[in-house]
Amino acid sequence: MESLPYAIETVNLTKRYGIFTALSRLNLRVEKSVVYGLLGPNGAGKTTLIKLLLGLLKPTEGDAYVLGERMPDKDILSEVGYMPQDTALYLNLTVRQNIELYGEIFGLSKKRITERTEELLGFINLEKWKDELVSNLSGGMKHRVSLACSMVHSPQLLLLDEPTVGIDPELRASFWDYFGLIKEKGVTILLTTHYMDEAARCDKVGLLRQGNLIAEGTPEEIIRISNTKSLEEAFLIFAKRNART
Ligand SMILES: Nc1ncnc2c1ncn2[C@@H]1O[C@H](COP(=O)(O)OP(=O)(O)OP(=O)(O)O)[C@@H](O)[C@H]1O
Ligand SMILES: [Mg+2]
Repeated sequence: MESLPYAIETVNLTKRYGIFTALSRLNLRVEKSVVYGLLGPNGAGKTTLIKLLLGLLKPTEGDAYVLGERMPDKDILSEVGYMPQDTALYLNLTVRQNIELYGEIFGLSKKRITERTEELLGFINLEKWKDELVSNLSGGMKHRVSLACSMVHSPQLLLLDEPTVGIDPELRASFWDYFGLIKEKGVTILLTTHYMDEAARCDKVGLLRQGNLIAEGTPEEIIRISNTKSLEEAFLIFAKRNART
């Protein structure tokens, strides 16, 4: 199939809620083993796109291919990790139990679950909190657990919806180091962010506005074609240009 080289490919992907178009004929291609940053103001359609990629939403028109398979495809989901914008955790379970539960859902062996839980507790720096109920954690800590849960089955593709919101700067930096590390191992990451310093660390960024992809390229390309000095300025220019048309 033509879509095989890409981790993600959408063809005229469209989502309408009634008469409102949340995503409009999107043709997006994300190569494997890259970090792709999806940017755009509130309501631009970022979460809608991620839900379409997962098959959680049905397109009004067009198609989404994930790791070469047309979505929805339940089998391919074992290769995909998803961190929702609103965390999906079991508040009455501990940190460790949450990660283990996601491991069980993905059918990992007991041994593998134990290994991965240890690794991920280290990565999110919550070893000391592993036996605490999630309901007792701060917002940022819950976010960290949610990220760990999305990665427990070592997926090839990670779809992370605002993974670093509410995370302190030091840990945010360590998340980005980790993203770089797993990318080198062949993992593809598509994430949404409102932070321009994070956008600058992506291999490629796409700017969504009112359901349209209005700019795409490497951070350097985006700055060059907009004739500005920073990504922030560049995106403000693209947003204004688009608003006039
Ligand atoms: N179930 C729904 N019914 C009607 N409209 C919806 C529904 N879900 C999303 N929308 C609308 O679709 C648009 C895109 O929403 P979406 O959540 O994809 O935006 P977003 O880019 O993720 O925004 P944010 O940065 O705030 O997370 C918004 O205008 C939103 O109100
Ligand atoms: Mg969103």
